[in-house]
Amino acid sequence: MKPDPINALPSHLALRTEGVQKSYGVGQSRTVALKGADFEAHLGEVTMIVGPSGCGKTTLLSIIAGTLTAEQGRINVLGFPLHEMKHPKLTRFRANHVGFIFQQFNLIPTISVIENVSVPLIINGAKTKVAEARAAEWLAKVGLAGRERERPMNLSGGQQQRVAIARALVRRPRMVLADEPTGNLDTRTSIEIMGFFQEINEQGNTIVMVTHELDIAAYCKRIVVMRDGQIISDTRNEHRRSARQEIDALNQAELEAKLA
Ligand SMILES: Nc1ncnc2c1ncn2[C@@H]1O[C@H](COP(=O)(O)OP(=O)(O)OP(=O)(O)O)[C@@H](O)[C@H]1O
Ligand SMILES: [Mg+2]
Repeated sequence: MKPDPINALPSHLALRTEGVQKSYGVGQSRTVALKGADFEAHLGEVTMIVGPSGCGKTTLLSIIAGTLTAEQGRINVLGFPLHEMKHPKLTRFRANHVGFIFQQFNLIPTISVIENVSVPLIINGAKTKVAEARAAEWLAKVGLAGRERERPMNLSGGQQQRVAIARALVRRPRMVLADEPTGNLDTRTSIEIMGFFQEINEQGNTIVMVTHELDIAAYCKRIVVMRDGQIISDTRNEHRRSARQEIDALNQAELEAKLA
């Protein structure tokens, strides 16, 4: 008999969902968001879920993150059977293993950038000084050294997204989930943000992202298409775009234009 891929996740997979169903509301206002979604993400890869607005991308990502529970179906993330887990186990799983990046950044506006990035560490019991030292390291990695004491609203959209990335990564989660991380950004900033994700991935992180833009999906190795609450295709992208090369080319072109 073959092993059950949900109970025992094959070693090349970081996660697998099977027959996941989820609806919102009741009676006439009931919306079925997921109609049996079968999804998998490979360990150490960047997987992009692409699909039109309302097809269930955020719902699926939230279920993988353990912030939303499915009505039916089975979900294994990093060996954890989420469909069998409840609070507080689910909360612990999320805090220890998942870094979530929201489309709207979700930064706390009343505290500084460094305090925002420290929050996950402080919740985990770290002393403020230790947490801020680690947060400062991450802010430097995302190119925001020197901006630590500013409030989020004083930063551009791309910079706020980088703060959100630092906050999601500061606890070194094994799984990074990002919901439309370039949704509110201009083209150049979007390429820079995709460059960060490519770098994080090179350091061994598994990343699952969501977008409705095919251009953005082209920076990922695996592209999963969603329609109407279901996964309709899962393909390997052999021609992954390199964000770093594109940024270098843009910088070069700008320099040449200045010198001309
Ligand atoms: N809290 C909610 N209450 C009621 N309906 C909801 C809720 N959240 C999502 N829905 C509905 O479920 C369906 C799937 O929503 P979901 O947010 O997962 O889609 P999406 O693919 O992320 O869309 P978008 O690209 O616009 O973010 C949609 O029809 C949406 O209107
Ligand atoms: Mg969404």
